[in-house]
Amino acid sequence: MANKSVEKKVFTPSEIVKELDKYIIGQTEAKRAVAIAIRNRWRRQQVKDVLREEIMPNNIILIGPTGVGKTEIARRLARLSQAPFVKVEASKFTEVGYVGRDVESMVRDLVEVGVNLIKAEKATEVQAKAEKLADERILDILIPPIRKTQTNSINSEGEEQQVNENENEAFQNKKTREWMREKVKSGEMDDRLIEFDSQVQPSIGMQVLGPFGMDDMGINIQEIMGSIVPKKRKKRKTTVKEARQLLAQEEMQKLIDMDAVQKEAIERVENSGMIFIDEIDKVAGGGKGHGPDVSREGVQRDLLPIVEGSNVNTKYGVVKTDHILFIASGAFHVSKPSDLIPELQGRFPIRVELNSLSEEDFIQILTTPQNALLKQYSALLETEGVKLSFSEDGIKEVARIATEVNEQVENIGARRLHTILTTLLDEILFDVPDKIPSDTVKIDAKFVKEKLEKIVKDRDLSKFIL
Ligand SMILES: Nc1ncnc2c1ncn2[C@@H]1O[C@H](COP(=O)(O)OP(=O)(O)OP(=O)(O)O)[C@@H](O)[C@H]1O
Ligand SMILES: [Mg+2]
Repeated sequence: MANKSVEKKVFTPSEIVKELDKYIIGQTEAKRAVAIAIRNRWRRQQVKDVLREEIMPNNIILIGPTGVGKTEIARRLARLSQAPFVKVEASKFTEVGYVGRDVESMVRDLVEVGVNLIKAEKATEVQAKAEKLADERILDILIPPIRKTQTNSINSEGEEQQVNENENEAFQNKKTREWMREKVKSGEMDDRLIEFDSQVQPSIGMQVLGPFGMDDMGINIQEIMGSIVPKKRKKRKTTVKEARQLLAQEEMQKLIDMDAVQKEAIERVENSGMIFIDEIDKVAGGGKGHGPDVSREGVQRDLLPIVEGSNVNTKYGVVKTDHILFIASGAFHVSKPSDLIPELQGRFPIRVELNSLSEEDFIQILTTPQNALLKQYSALLETEGVKLSFSEDGIKEVARIATEVNEQVENIGARRLHTILTTLLDEILFDVPDKIPSDTVKIDAKFVKEKLEKIVKDRDLSKFIL
């Protein structure tokens, strides 16, 4: 590939898994499935036109108990795939006609994310140029460029002289500007106050509230009004430092072609957008006979056209949802994937189960991810000059207790580690820096036992605390 440098990084499946491994322990199967799905969308885009339209995304359902990493996988995936991504909770939606958000709003949200993504990309592209233009504008204020003086002289000799003077002046001016430009660039002028014209988006003076659900119809009154009312210029006085930033922003806005951004955003959304539907099990049938089953099935029926592929109106234009990738997730405690309406099941051909986490997994989760809990707490205390030192048997004991409480009270997966650690470290976090004189706090199995044993033994107590 010739222009690899400007192209964004396209991860191979194994690279995606490797990235996810940095944050999520185990769940290899789920990682593989999402990695393949992501890569397939890139592959699809390389396929020739006719067939490309036929290739459907590999929508996935992640099935697994609570707190084992379903949402976490989606979250990390979003970060690394640079694709427009939204996460929605299926239970938030209600059937058309009921009060609540309609399902199409997730596509509108996705486009919004897409527009911001492309805008940010464009912004970095034009940043250098915008900064340069801003500096020129500041120079114009500091050292106004000279205008060509009109020469009305008829005398040929006199004219000659005038031209020479002009040239000389222009040369001087240019030199001073060069000199000043360096000073502005180096920040030497940062504290100087200057006055300049800044373009301000006129405020309409009131929040325009559309009729009920207007935002959901893809119409933004505020924006329409904003484009009718002409932009105003306003005099501002700030330091050079601030002016450079403000003017650079302004120049950036001018350099970015918003129509092109919107068009590209829609294209990006259609071809690489991703929607994560969490808690899909909450809208699956199951537990027949009670609860608002009608409405749940209604949500599924509303979801279907979007997942199958349809056109959704957004304020940036029509979005075709055919190739958006959907990843659904749910614990499916009460209901099963087979309780979903058959059409919807058919649209999620890939099902992956996530495993419950073992004691061994907990040890890993506590210590290895880049954002591992123990690293987080250590970093927090380090700011106070205290070193938190967990011994191996201490970590093992925390993991063991987490497993035990999960078994006895309720299995909430890795979330249990959060509650246990806050309880375990409560006193230290409170006492530092007043009462802890030594600069290292050792936490071993004995310490963990002393702190937590009593609570773990008392079922009622652990229900509330751990
Ligand atoms: N396998 C794992 N590796 C590392 N951290 C994990 C793992 N599983 C869960 N966690 C941590 O536990 C917390 C909860 O995980 P997550 O939000 O992914 O749960 P979930 O599977 O979506 O559960 P739910 O079904 O309740 O939504 C997160 O803070 C996450 O970092
Ligand atoms: Mg979740």
